[in-house]
Amino acid sequence: MSVESVFCLLLCVCGGGGILYHGADPSGGEGASELSAFPRLCGAPNYDVRNLTASVWTFRWHACINMGVNCTFKMAFCQPLPEFGNCENASVCMTGTNVISMKLGEYQDNPFIPSSSPGPSILFIGFLAQFVNGDAYNTTTAHACELSVFMEFHCDLNLHWPAAREGVESVVPPGALTDVSFDDTKCEYTFKFRFSGACLTVTPSSPVAESLSAGTILIIIFVTTLAIYFMLGISLNAARGHRGTELIPQSELWTQLPATVVEGVAYTCRCCTAKKEAYDSI
Ligand SMILES: *[C@@H]1O[C@H](CO)[C@@H](O)[C@H](O)[C@H]1NC(C)=O
Ligand SMILES: *[C@@H]1O[C@H](CO)[C@@H](O)[C@H](O)[C@H]1NC(C)=O
Ligand SMILES: *[C@@H]1O[C@H](CO)[C@@H](O)[C@H](O)[C@H]1NC(C)=O
Ligand SMILES: *[C@@H]1O[C@H](CO)[C@@H](O)[C@H](O)[C@H]1NC(C)=O
Repeated sequence: MSVESVFCLLLCVCGGGGILYHGADPSGGEGASELSAFPRLCGAPNYDVRNLTASVWTFRWHACINMGVNCTFKMAFCQPLPEFGNCENASVCMTGTNVISMKLGEYQDNPFIPSSSPGPSILFIGFLAQFVNGDAYNTTTAHACELSVFMEFHCDLNLHWPAAREGVESVVPPGALTDVSFDDTKCEYTFKFRFSGACLTVTPSSPVAESLSAGTILIIIFVTTLAIYFMLGISLNAARGHRGTELIPQSELWTQLPATVVEGVAYTCRCCTAKKEAYDSI
């Protein structure tokens, strides 16, 4: 079995689902909050969040708490917002006329949640994002809480979010923001957006978890095959009267098995490449 085929197999197994990930922070892993159902890397599998994670996004809205009539919201995904005012280590921040800034949600490794997760009352095509641990806030009912943000990204094929060039803030495109509301009892902002990246890019029946476990199954089959091969070979050689190191199966079996494995790997990779090309052409 050649080095290339091992590499190809690994690439195939590991690369299968990760195409749309931001890919910068694989360390997010185990520590990610239980709300996040995509803990491995920052991203939303099967959705195109590349523009979203490439920039800092801003929009203005007239539902400001504590902050006069109009305020500016800033948000960033898979990266903390650049520090400004009171906003340190934040993912979502609000600035207005009365207060310099307020942190609505703390930075977190992977805020994305699939829309089918328990939580939202209705199912829709798209994905969600949740940010918690914002600044302390006293609601109008005098209950103290920490601000948080819940975002809904609804599929709308016509609403692209072109990201500004690097280092420049991008403005949420007109029509993309459909609602901003603040729930005083939960201390939670809800932003509702339309976004073409929230339309499924891959069939929903093949989420990453499944393709990963398919890879795991492949490896298990491979290891099992190897184990059976050695057991059979050793017993065959033992039956032929070999002893010691001669027990380890040699020649014929060694030449046959790698050929079979390489053929299998080549088949799998052709299969994966075909899928990836199908995606790229969309
Ligand atoms: C708030 O924004 C609206 C629309 O952009 C504008 O008409 C209004 O004058 C603004 N109000 C203040 C107090 O800035
Ligand atoms: C930023 O917030 C995250 C999430 O709570 C936390 O894990 C991390 O340590 C914080 N980083 C800094 C520099 O405060
Ligand atoms: C909330 O109210 C308490 C008691 O009235 C006060 O001590 C605290 O500073 C207030 N917090 C904020 C963030 O306004
Ligand atoms: C991402 O941005 C590019 C241009 O910067 C744009 O052509 C594309 O449609 C955007 N994709 C999404 C999903 O918004």
